[in-house]
Amino acid sequence: MSSTSAASTPTSRALILEEFGTLPRLVERAVPEPQPGHTLVRMKAATVAHLDLNVLDGQFGILPDLPSVPGTQGSGIVLASGTHPEGALVRVRGEGLGLSRAGAWAEHVLVPDSAVEVMPEGTDPALACIYFSPVGTAWASVHPIAQVRPGERVMVTGASGAVGATAVQLAARAGAEVVGVVGRPAKLPHVPDAAKAVLAADLSEESIGGKVDVLIDTVGGTILRNALALVRPRGRAALVGYTAGRELTLDLADFFLADVSLLPVNMISRGKEVAAEVVRLLPDLSSGELTLPYERYGIDRLEDAVGRLRTGEAVGKVVLDLG
Ligand SMILES: NC(=O)c1ccc[n+]([C@@H]2O[C@H](COP(=O)([O-])OP(=O)(O)OC[C@H]3O[C@@H](n4cnc5c(N)ncnc54)[C@H](OP(=O)(O)O)[C@@H]3O)[C@@H](O)[C@H]2O)c1
Repeated sequence: MSSTSAASTPTSRALILEEFGTLPRLVERAVPEPQPGHTLVRMKAATVAHLDLNVLDGQFGILPDLPSVPGTQGSGIVLASGTHPEGALVRVRGEGLGLSRAGAWAEHVLVPDSAVEVMPEGTDPALACIYFSPVGTAWASVHPIAQVRPGERVMVTGASGAVGATAVQLAARAGAEVVGVVGRPAKLPHVPDAAKAVLAADLSEESIGGKVDVLIDTVGGTILRNALALVRPRGRAALVGYTAGRELTLDLADFFLADVSLLPVNMISRGKEVAAEVVRLLPDLSSGELTLPYERYGIDRLEDAVGRLRTGEAVGKVVLDLG
């Protein structure tokens, strides 16, 4: 516990959101009391993700009553639990964490036992809290959804981002030739070596060496529109994200002519299906054989973390380091 009040109540730091559209305030508060059916966790790391930004902005379908601690996902060490072993590294997520109940942006959290999953020994706490969504999404996109086959040509947009960079590596592992597209020149060096890196502004059949069989789009907006034109007839496009714009206008005549299948990637429905595959990739992530980019910020630097994510300057996931 980080400090003790006059009445000897142990306290620790938490980020508290008081009003939508503002940033949470860093406060010292009482450490939650253990409760039956719940696990008390000393947090080590928490993600700052696009979903969390939507919650901060009051722009999500499920929102907490304020004041509340945001943070939909994190990892830490079990301090007290009737279900999970004390001292184990765990990932906390789900059960409305950071949405309908207090979330992970705090040094101590009390969460339902069912929101806790023990991680393999030796896993980096930052990796433990960030890996599932990007690696699961990339896996679902490359395998069950786009069904990438050896020898195919795959284009990935947002290829320096967490989902994009992982999709590049998984598509290459599946035997594909990969083109990685990024929006800004500063991101070019962050595209994994497995792909040929191309700037979105330069996208053309010539710059990518001909049409592709599969597009995995993590960005949306005009980049998606331009990239779709480079998929061959009967090709597939897995649509993952819409950070750069959520609308796609289809001229039906052009759509029929182009003959490209648009495949939504929905990790809410695919999560359980990919979970076992994704855990199997953790050793490769821990050893660095597969790389998952992330930036790390102290709990007192939330503003920087949010700013980097909002502007799209962040390389990969953004993690709050909770000690
Ligand atoms: N469908 C699902 O179930 C599902 C699951 C997980 C994630 N997602 C979504 O997938 C997307 C990618 O996730 P991620 O974790 O890979 O995110 P990320 O690491 O932030 O990368 C996304 C990429 O989008 C571009 N970008 C970011 N902010 C931007 C902005 N304001 N304007 C224009 N471009 C911007 C950046 O690439 P450039 O600089 O190269 O443009 C960035 O590298 C997110 O939108 C996320 O919400 C969807």
